[in-house]
Amino acid sequence: MQDSGAFDLLSSSFLANPYPTYARLRSEAPVYFSQEWKSWLITRYDDVVACYREPRLSADRAKAFSDLLPPELRPVAEPIVRNMSSWALQMDPPTHTRLRALLNQAFTPRLMQELQPRIGEIAAELIEQLASQPEVDLVKALAEPLPIAVIGELLGLAPSEWPLLKSWSTALVTFLGTPRVTVEILQQAAHAISSMEDFFRVELQKRRAAPRQDLLSNLLQASERGTILGEQELLSTCCMVLFGGHETTTNLIGNAIRHLYAQPVEVRQSLQESAKMSVAVEEIMRFESPVQRMGRLVTEDFALHGQTLCKGQRVFLMLGSANRDSAHFADADQLVLDRRENRHLGFGFGSHYCVGAALGRMETALCLSRLFARIPSLKLIEKEPQWVPNATVRGPASLLATTHV
Ligand code: HEM
Repeated sequence: MQDSGAFDLLSSSFLANPYPTYARLRSEAPVYFSQEWKSWLITRYDDVVACYREPRLSADRAKAFSDLLPPELRPVAEPIVRNMSSWALQMDPPTHTRLRALLNQAFTPRLMQELQPRIGEIAAELIEQLASQPEVDLVKALAEPLPIAVIGELLGLAPSEWPLLKSWSTALVTFLGTPRVTVEILQQAAHAISSMEDFFRVELQKRRAAPRQDLLSNLLQASERGTILGEQELLSTCCMVLFGGHETTTNLIGNAIRHLYAQPVEVRQSLQESAKMSVAVEEIMRFESPVQRMGRLVTEDFALHGQTLCKGQRVFLMLGSANRDSAHFADADQLVLDRRENRHLGFGFGSHYCVGAALGRMETALCLSRLFARIPSLKLIEKEPQWVPNATVRGPASLLATTHV
């Protein structure tokens, strides 16, 4: 099916609640070309998995995507394209295979074990601070600062730098998920990425002079060994880890707080058992996926459900929709906190499967169990939060709560 706007994908009501639209797309137009997004949307679970395996879909898309912008905006996007073209996330083999092996070496189970106590401490400190305020925004006070602190520690960056890193990353996520790209949004994202590069150049220089025990020093050593090729790949990898490592986790924590404080207090108490908490976090990942869509580029024409996807076109694999597909999940629109069979696609699938999945899960579970233990009766003030106005990431823009009830 191909038309202009039958599904109203630019509307604020879609961004506030995309699930009814996803359900219609899965049933009426599972392979749908949206004029609004200038892209194909793949919404069924099995089709998303098939597309992840499809060799005629490439992850290498930054340049082609910028060609979809109006011609006058393309030069503005140039710093973003240059940087993102060297993200592992946006690469195909063999370059992806090389960089991915390096990332796998960095994100080991041992690192997760080592980080765990520190993450618990940071979460406890943040929760102690917010517990003293009668009214608090849990996104600003917890869901945002915790992941930025964790990724800051991992990369070995000073806490004084974290707010600046966060502001650059916000500019980038706004660009990546905005329903309508404007010149201001592009300029801010381009400025952010150039500033991030300048920042990491200086940090890497410091590590060259005096290596430390942090991810930046490890990446630098890899570049000296030749595993990373050149300065651009090094800077791009730093930016990708910084960005990928916290925007997503912020939204997972926000979604989890929102849904779990809507449950009776006994439910939260039962989740203090760590195995139950892990199962619940997976269900939040499925039910309210922090990453709703992932882009791919068609490199050769091919047909799917009678539609021809043509070389050069953009495709969105709609993870948030696949995760609500009732052909794959029983009671797909229900939050089932003890769901056992849960092969959700919230961390992607196949060779690009999220390298930080274990870290994101661990941060979220630790944060929630500390919060439930410290303020079990916290009350969210708004029934329905304002969502971040973004089609790529999904999470509450704010979560106002009273802590003293
Ligand atoms: C809990 C929150 C997270 C979610 C929902 C999430 C989601 C995703 C998804 C959907 C992908 C697949 C991309 C694709 O299909 O092309 C991905 C890849 C990736 N993620 Fe995450 N992520 C999270 C946490 C993290 C963390 C904590 C880090 C790092 C510290 C991280 C770093 C990455 C990287 C580097 C990739 C690219 C892997 C590759 O292309 O081989 N993510 N993530």
